[in-house]
Amino acid sequence: MSPGVRYERRGAVGVITVDNPPVNALSRAVRQGLIDGLMQGLGDEAAKALVVIGAGRTFIAGADIKEFGKPLEPPDLNRVIAGLESAAKPTIAAIHGTALGGGLEVALGCHYRIALASAQVGLPEVKLGILPGAGGTQRLPRLIGAKAALDMITTGDFVRAPKAKELGIVDAIVEGDLLEGALRFAEEAVRSGTSGRRLRERDEKLAELRGNPAFFAEYRAAIKKRARGQESPLRSVDAVEAAVNLPFEQGLKREREIFEELITSTQSRALIHAFFAEREAMNIPDIPAETPVRAVKRAAVIGAGTMGGGIAMNFANAGIPVAVVETAPEALERGLGVVRNNYAATVAKGRLDQAAMDKRMGLITGTLDLAAAVKDADIVVEAVFEEMAIKKELFARLDKLAKRGAVLATNTSSLDVNVIAAQTARPQDVIGTHFFSPANVMRLVEVVRGAKTGKDVVATAMRLGKSLGKVPALVGVCDGFVGNRMLFQYAREAEFLLEEGALPWQIDKALQDWGLAMGPFAMSDMAGNDVSWRIRKQHAATRPNDRRYSHLADQICEMGRYGQKASAGWYRYEKGSRTPLPDPEIERLILAESKRLGLERKPIADDEIVKRTIYALVNEGAKLLEEGIALRPSDIDVIYLAGYGFPAWRGGPMFYADTVGLDKVDADVRRFHETHGYFWRPAPLLERLARDGKRFADLNPGKG
Ligand code: 3HC
Repeated sequence: MSPGVRYERRGAVGVITVDNPPVNALSRAVRQGLIDGLMQGLGDEAAKALVVIGAGRTFIAGADIKEFGKPLEPPDLNRVIAGLESAAKPTIAAIHGTALGGGLEVALGCHYRIALASAQVGLPEVKLGILPGAGGTQRLPRLIGAKAALDMITTGDFVRAPKAKELGIVDAIVEGDLLEGALRFAEEAVRSGTSGRRLRERDEKLAELRGNPAFFAEYRAAIKKRARGQESPLRSVDAVEAAVNLPFEQGLKREREIFEELITSTQSRALIHAFFAEREAMNIPDIPAETPVRAVKRAAVIGAGTMGGGIAMNFANAGIPVAVVETAPEALERGLGVVRNNYAATVAKGRLDQAAMDKRMGLITGTLDLAAAVKDADIVVEAVFEEMAIKKELFARLDKLAKRGAVLATNTSSLDVNVIAAQTARPQDVIGTHFFSPANVMRLVEVVRGAKTGKDVVATAMRLGKSLGKVPALVGVCDGFVGNRMLFQYAREAEFLLEEGALPWQIDKALQDWGLAMGPFAMSDMAGNDVSWRIRKQHAATRPNDRRYSHLADQICEMGRYGQKASAGWYRYEKGSRTPLPDPEIERLILAESKRLGLERKPIADDEIVKRTIYALVNEGAKLLEEGIALRPSDIDVIYLAGYGFPAWRGGPMFYADTVGLDKVDADVRRFHETHGYFWRPAPLLERLARDGKRFADLNPGKG
């Protein structure tokens, strides 16, 4: 038998075990092994029913994504599934961990499905830019109805076993040992037989929406809003509509055609790149995976502001007790109140139960006593006001108060971690953990490695980030690190575009239409325009005055237009509303500024807006790579995808540049350099790659 699958008999039941660590992906060998196992089981007269089960931590997590991009080798997964479905003996999928994608499709081929209560099922293919390609779009609607199937397939969301039971995906929930439960269940299945259990033969659940194109048209319209720009959810609707209106075999053929179109699409390549990039970000070249990490059982967060509160929630959510330290009782009360309200809102939305909220709140203790809070902490995260003098003083104190071996982390978004570390006699323990606001929601953490940060401290911060449910990416020390240093170039270009002829709402719309969650001006209004204004004012004295500088952002702050919180920023807002509305006052301001600068305003095409802003990210990203601040292009992509609302189906700024072609990007950057000057000096790395006909992906280890 092929490695990765084994067959054995337990009493009157044949057990086919998939054992292909880490996640039992359906590699070619596993597909062949399943066919062999099935043949053996069918030929084994003593076996009256067959159980398919996964070894290790999970059932089957889907097709082997590493095989994508190469011609798919036989046997086809559809053949495996058809074999399980047409078997004369009852076949039972016994699910623990996750049954995802092709894994759930294998389970849908079986006559029965049982699961541990902790298991989850899902068809997450849309998240990889494809659709279920082994009958999932045809069998799931037959099992649970087209509407419920569409909801699962077009979102890719996982469904927990109890809910899967309610929906009818799972026939029974097993308590205790899964295999024992499966063997018991198999006895019943032998009595009930296979009749009526082959999904391909059933279509009673499809009748409701048959010949109802209006339903599908509405569903597509909703997706166009929800998953702007993404092809795979829309194409999934086509496949489910085929399931409803066509005979099974024809529907399956339609699914296959769409699958084959999508699997070679740029969107799919981008999403698969994003999947591997996130995992690759955990590998640090000079820090082996087996580097021992420090145990983090207790944390302290200094500062109960928006960042501090959000960071504390991350610890509590992961079950780690955390002390939150403030200097004044009112500030502490206010901070903890915000945390409580955040949890309460999640409870109100039904995404958390009250008992879980109470448990999490119980793990957060507020205090004014810094010494007591940090004494036993394994990690201290500083989230105080972004001012070097304050941070320096605090770290000097932490050096005296924290226990030996504690990780001392700063949440600074731009200050020099090495200067902060130098305030202590233990710079090896100091690191940056740059969370993104709101810290309890945003997935990105930039882990900032100082010149003297210990390797075990880097490994600890990376591992901790992952266990807090975040996406950690390692960066080096520089002004703004990776994400914000790139964003600075992007925002600057957006402001220059205003002076040259565009308006905020045109720029935001062009970038949103391109796929960003939000354009730069709506984003700045949301974050608070005063934040970067204060930073700019600190740097005003050192700003070279021979370079172009847009005063517009300063002007709107001088007018008190701090953004949403002031009901006025780059946009105006109705009281209590977050909807940005174009404001004639801003238009007048911009027109007057262009005039003052002697610039003749010209219409700027959306395409040019996208190039000016996105290529500003790319060019700066290339400089960060040359300087070694970012380890690899894929890390930059991870940072933009997890922290800045960059559309995953574009793969991140560096991947996107590759899809355009670096020769074209380089030509535009040179053109901008000639027209707009200094800031657009092309990154030598970009020039070199373009000249050599290479891609940023060529710098990524392994997977591209
Ligand atoms: N193929 C190949 N490798 C996979 C894989 C897959 N489907 N799923 C996970 N892996 C690898 C990861 O790359 C990682 O490798 P690494 O250790 O070398 O970095 C390792 O398995 C562990 O994965 P995670 O770090 O993600 O582990 P978690 O425990 O956090 O998550 C998981 C496990 C929920 C299974 C998550 O990995 C996941 O969501 N995987 C993708 C599932 C998926 O998308 N399945 C559908 C595939 S497409 C398909 O089935 C097409 C079909 O319709 C024909």
